[in-house]
Amino acid sequence: MMFLLTLFTLSFFFSSSDALDFCVGDLSAPQGPAGYSCKKAEEVTADDFVFSGLRATGNTSNLFKIALTPAFSSQFPGVNGLGISVARVDYPVDGRAPMHTHPEAAEVFVVIKGTFYAGFISSAYKFYFKTLNEGDIMAFPLGLMHFQINIGESEALAFSFYSSASPGVYIMDNAWFTNDLPTDILQKTTFLDPDQIKKLKGLLGGTN
Ligand SMILES: *[C@@H]1O[C@H](CO)[C@@H](O)[C@H](O)[C@H]1NC(C)=O
Repeated sequence: MMFLLTLFTLSFFFSSSDALDFCVGDLSAPQGPAGYSCKKAEEVTADDFVFSGLRATGNTSNLFKIALTPAFSSQFPGVNGLGISVARVDYPVDGRAPMHTHPEAAEVFVVIKGTFYAGFISSAYKFYFKTLNEGDIMAFPLGLMHFQINIGESEALAFSFYSSASPGVYIMDNAWFTNDLPTDILQKTTFLDPDQIKKLKGLLGGTN
């Protein structure tokens, strides 16, 4: 009996699989709501858990003067299924992350270099904000609208950590002003001036 039990325990140990430890994303298969399907465990190497794509400064030549370089599961399949991810965010002088949410994730924003004014709006519509300096971190709760602005006199750098391998980014200005949502509907639903709406649509590529 003891022998059988030992045999059973041993076979249990020897049949335990790395597949229980991780689920490195198979980027060749489609991504579902729960993430990517798992790459075969025997094909996984240490390289799957390392990402060097955040070494370089991103391209900040855009309206918001920001470069968010993601290491989400689509770029860094090693985080697939782990419920975490990170992005490098470069901000030249006057750069800003415009008002946005991450539908799937809370965020911790870590200031590596520079000075930021950052804030979020709670679901009770209270505004929480702070000036952040090098080494400061700020938490942004799940799904809430938030922003960060480089208010310093030189370029700034931050890393944002997310409680999802695929946090999503939903930018308010993009939602309102980059598509064909009619100006009169935006006017009715926001009370913004039609002229202001047209100006912002012009800036962001929207029509109507
Ligand atoms: C940065 O992006 C802008 C706008 O998309 C583009 O014109 C420019 O060539 C890019 N610069 C580099 C160095 O890739």
